This record gives sequence, structure tokens and C-alpha cells, in this order.
Amino acid sequence: MADEPLVLGIETSCDETGVGIVRGTTLLADAVASSVDEHARFGGVVPEIASRAHLEAMVPTIERALKEAGVSARDLDGIAVTAGPGLAGALLVGVSAAKSYAYALGKPLYGVNHLASHICVDQLEHGPLPEPTMALLVSGGHSSLLLAPDITADVRPMGATIDDAAGEAFDKIARVLDLGFPGGPVIDRLAKEGDPAAIAFPRGLSGAKDPAYDFSFSGLKTAVARWIEAKRASGEEVPVRDVAASFQEAVVDVLTRKAVRACKDQGVDHLMIGGGVAANSRLRALAEERCGRAGIRLRVPRPKLCTDNGAMVAALGAEMVARNRPASDLDLSADSSLPVTETHVPGRHRHDHDHVHEVSKDNLYS
Ligand code: KG4
Ligand code: ZN
Repeated sequence: MADEPLVLGIETSCDETGVGIVRGTTLLADAVASSVDEHARFGGVVPEIASRAHLEAMVPTIERALKEAGVSARDLDGIAVTAGPGLAGALLVGVSAAKSYAYALGKPLYGVNHLASHICVDQLEHGPLPEPTMALLVSGGHSSLLLAPDITADVRPMGATIDDAAGEAFDKIARVLDLGFPGGPVIDRLAKEGDPAAIAFPRGLSGAKDPAYDFSFSGLKTAVARWIEAKRASGEEVPVRDVAASFQEAVVDVLTRKAVRACKDQGVDHLMIGGGVAANSRLRALAEERCGRAGIRLRVPRPKLCTDNGAMVAALGAEMVARNRPASDLDLSADSSLPVTETHVPGRHRHDHDHVHEVSKDNLYS
């Protein structure tokens, strides 16, 4: 529908420069420039390298997205940007770019939450989100269970990891096994040829007295690393495929069990899974199986929409416009630890076209 809001979204919270364009819940463009190769030799994302890469990729990626969508910047109804959480310097590049475009074009600016965006992106694949939706967000930086009665204004944390994120555990185990970075995709691939029951690795925080919705992957990581060390010390060959499969099983077993339990406890019949780890084939299969048995409808976007991208930010921005949420001020600042409950950073006063032009240029860089 032509009267649905046309929004451009910018995402720079980690190592992906993402620019997406959506109309309502329809994806028009999803341009991503990743600096992942530049971080590979360090075994993790280096913030300074990420910031510089964002700076270089920003304008070309915006232009690529506009071209892909076949729209003109003048036609946009708003510019959305990840205001946090994420790497401070990296966020700053996206926020500065979004402010500049919003100011130059006279369009409202929406500073939105990265985690809420990971949930909202599913609208582009499966249509409007049921309310409430339970979300399992699993990436290199986060592992959270979130209850979302209203993705634009009400997202409640149910549980989160108390140490490593799920993706971080994949990356660390891959490093111990000399499989390179990022570790998730290669472990996923090798695990397909391994036996998930070969080694009984621990399931963190799964005791009767443990918090029901929190996660812990640090003990698992240590157990796997010790197991590999012991094998190596004894001169035996490490059965990489079995280790990958058994480790992966321990992670996805806990993730799916707790997510299904949260849905049942809260009487929520929809579960969405997002974040980079949602690309994991075993997680998707086990979630499907367990949700099916529990009568829960599972929604998992395609892998490209699960990892960081601009479309997810545009999707949440469009929802903000559609629901008449207040825009952000042009002195919006990036907040590296923006709480998940703050779905967006509204301005002190509602934007209208005139107000945008009244703002002094100095504010752009504050
Ligand atoms: O969402 P994302 O692209 O960036 C962050 O916000 O962190 O997630 C990246 C994480 C990495 O830790 C990567 O190893 C993991 O997602 N990942 C996977 C898979 N694909 C990516 N983990 C398990 N299985 C996969 N297939
Ligand atoms: Zn993310």
C-alpha cells in the first residue's frame, strides 16, 4: 500500500554497516557492508576497525539501498537508526549519518533499540507480529528472552545470559578448535556430520533452583575446552565433528527449553527467534520440534534478516511512524548500553517539518 510509511534504517552497532528500506512491513532494500574479514585475524570484533569501516561504507551503502529500492530520499517518511546498545564508536557513525540525512532532508528521525529491531524484522518475513510475542534473541553480543506486548513501546526482559552470549560461546569453541572466526557457521556445518550425544556437556542454569529464564554458557565453554585439552594431552585425535555436535546440542537444548517454558508460563503462543545464532540449523529444527509439541507458533526470519542488518531498523522505524510514536530530537545521542525496555529514544518534543529546520547545525554533532 502506497500510504504505508517509507522508512530508511541505519544499523552500525557492531561490524555490519546495514542500510534497509521498508514500506510498512514490506522489504524494499537490504544493503549490508560487513567488516568481518578485517576482524577475522583478531578472533573477534575490534571496535576501532569497525568504526572506521562504518565511516567508509556509510554513504555508499545508503546510496546502494536507495537504488535497490528504486526510491528517492525525498520520498522517505522517516530515517531510523540504531541508538544502542552496541559499540559506542560504531553506533556514533550511524547516529551521525542518520541525523545528517534527517536534517538535510527535513525528515523525522527515530533512534531505536537494536534488540527490539531484531524482533521487529520478522514482520518483513511473516507479517505483523502477534501481541504479545515472546522473543529469543541470540547473537554474538546478546542472549535474551524478551516478552514484547508492543514492539514500539513495551518490551520486557524475562531473562538473559549471566556471562557469555550464545554466539560468543560458538566463537570461542571454534577458536579452541582452530576453526576461524566467526565460529557459528563452521560449527553448524561440522556438527551435521557429528554425533550430538557423543559427549555429555553441561547444560548451564538448568537445575530446579536455577533462574528459569537466565542463561549461562561460560561453564559449558570451559568444559568443552578442558575436554579438548585432555584429548590433546593424551595424544589422541580430537573428534572435531562430535565435539561440535555435542557442544551445539548443549547450547540449543537449553535455549529452546527455556524459551518454550517462558511461553508456557506466560501464556504466550508465539515465539520468534532472532540474532545471528538463529541462523543455526539445529536450533531452528529443535525449536520447531519443541514448539510443535507445545502448541506454540514459531517464527524465525531467514538467516540474512537474523544477523545484523539495516532492514530490521527500518522495520521498527516504520512501525514507529505507523503508530504515531514521537520522533527523536536531532541531538539524539548513541547509548552503548541502552536498556532493552527503551524501544526507542523519543525526543523531548514532537517533531514536525518546521521544527526540523529550526534546529541549529551545532546540535548535529553533539
Ligand atoms: O547478530 P549477529 O550477526 O551479530 C551480533 O550482534 O553479535 O550475530 C553474530 C553471531 C556470531 O557469534 C556467530 O558465530 C553467530 O552469530 N552465528 C551462528 C551461526 N551463524 C552466525 N551461531 C551458530 N550457528 C550459526 N549457523
Ligand atoms: Zn544484533
